[in-house]
Amino acid sequence: MYVAAVLFVFISLTATSQADHHLHPCHSPNMTGTMIVMTMKGEIRGYGAFTYDSMGKKLRFRSNDSLNFNTTLSVDLLMFFEEGIFYEIDSKNQTCEKKALQCRLHPLDIPDDAKFHSTITSGNPFIEGEGIKINVWSGSLMDKKGHYSMSATMGCLPISSLYFTEPSSFIVSNFDVEYEIKDPELLAVPSFCQGQPLEETPEGTVNSFLNEFI
Ligand SMILES: *[C@@H]1O[C@H](CO)[C@@H](O)[C@H](O)[C@H]1NC(C)=O
Ligand SMILES: *[C@@H]1O[C@H](CO)[C@@H](O)[C@H](O)[C@H]1NC(C)=O
Ligand SMILES: *[C@@H]1O[C@H](CO)[C@@H](O)[C@H](O)[C@H]1NC(C)=O
Ligand SMILES: *[C@@H]1O[C@H](CO)[C@@H](O)[C@H](O)[C@H]1NC(C)=O
Repeated sequence: MYVAAVLFVFISLTATSQADHHLHPCHSPNMTGTMIVMTMKGEIRGYGAFTYDSMGKKLRFRSNDSLNFNTTLSVDLLMFFEEGIFYEIDSKNQTCEKKALQCRLHPLDIPDDAKFHSTITSGNPFIEGEGIKINVWSGSLMDKKGHYSMSATMGCLPISSLYFTEPSSFIVSNFDVEYEIKDPELLAVPSFCQGQPLEETPEGTVNSFLNEFI
C-alpha cells in the first residue's frame, strides 16, 4: 500500500502538464475514510480513521494504535477550520486541550489559492474502469517555508497530499473513502472537553494539522 502511494506520488510528479490554468480548486464532499500520514523517509506518523464535514469544515482524525504499525505518535484530533480552533483529545484519560489554529491547511481540502498543475491518469486510461483521472494542485505553505502538492479525483476526493517542508517532508494518503459522514458524533466536542479554556499559543508556534505530526 505504501509502495502504491509512493509510486503514485512519483507519477504525479513526473506527469506532463496538460495545463488548463483556468481550473479553480474544487471542494471535497463529506467523507469517512482512512488516512495515513508518513514522512518521506517512510516513518508512519499516524494511521487511522477520519471523518470530514465539508460544509462545516470539521475534521476528526484518530490514529488507530491497535493496528500493528510502528507509529511514533498517537493522535486524536478534532479540528474546526471555520472557527480556527482544535482539540487534542485523550479519550482514555478523558482529557483534552483546546488550541487555536494558525494555519488552516489540511489534506482533505484543496486551498482556494492552490494553483492547478496538471491532469493525469493513474492506471490504464484505455480500459474502462482501469484508469482514474486525477487533478494535481500545488501551492505554498503559509509561512512560505515550503510547498505542497495535492491530488484529487474528478469528484474532488483528495487522494494524496505532499508537504515539502523542514525538518521533514510528509505524504498524506487517503483510502477506503466513502462520501458520507458515518458517525456524526465524532464531529461533536466530547462532553469532557466542553468548557475547556483555550490554551495560549507560544510565540512563534504555528498550529496546523501537519504540525501535529512533526
Ligand atoms: C455534510 O454533513 C453535514 C453535517 O452532518 C450536513 O449538514 C450536510 O448537509 C452534509 N452535506 C451533504 C452534501 O451531504
Ligand atoms: C482499529 O483497527 C481495528 C482493526 O482494523 C478495528 O477493528 C478498529 O475498529 C479500529 N479502531 C478505530 C478507533 O478506528
Ligand atoms: C520502530 O521505530 C523505531 C524508531 O524509528 C525503530 O528504532 C524500531 O526499530 C522500529 N521497530 C520496528 C519493529 O520496526
Ligand atoms: C493518562 O493516564 C495514564 C495513566 O493514568 C498516564 O500514565 C498518562 O501520562 C496520562 N496521559 C496524559 C496525556 O495525561
